[in-house]
Amino acid sequence: AREAHLRSILATVPEAMIVIDERGLVTSFSTAAEKLFGIQADDICDRNISNLMPNPDRDAHDDYIARYIRTGERRIIGYGRVVTGQRADGSKFPMELHIGETTANGERIFTGFVRDLTGRYKIEEDLRQAQ
Ligand code: HEM
Repeated sequence: AREAHLRSILATVPEAMIVIDERGLVTSFSTAAEKLFGIQADDICDRNISNLMPNPDRDAHDDYIARYIRTGERRIIGYGRVVTGQRADGSKFPMELHIGETTANGERIFTGFVRDLTGRYKIEEDLRQAQ
């Protein structure tokens, strides 16, 4: 029943929602996330979330998580941040990232909510051009 509940959330939540474990491996990937990143859940689950970002973050992301687990010092959790995501086709886009943390069956998991900022940045650019 819990799994059916999670499946219905993943199919319905309007924002891209991604769950990873403490190694950074993707365990859940919502329908909106599939559309945003251009990749099917089946093709990214069990792979590292770092596949969906460009460098320098790509090579450093495991260390970001490890640093957080070691120190407990939050840099995005609880604050949110604008970062750069990378779609499966290699194109990059600005995204607002919010991260929550919880434990499931004694394991620490992280839930990320991703908002695509492409449209907002385009409006700002159009406004600048119009001035
Ligand atoms: C930390 C980038 C996606 C989980 C970070 C930091 C950056 C970053 C720059 C470290 C901040 C610092 O040390 O100053 C990105 C980018 C993403 C992405 C570019 C694009 C796809 C995600 C997602 C999750 C996640 C989807 C979870 C589902 C974490 C965690 C930390 C972290 C747990 C450490 C906690 C913290 O610093 O508060 N990420 N991230 N990241 N990220 Fe990501």
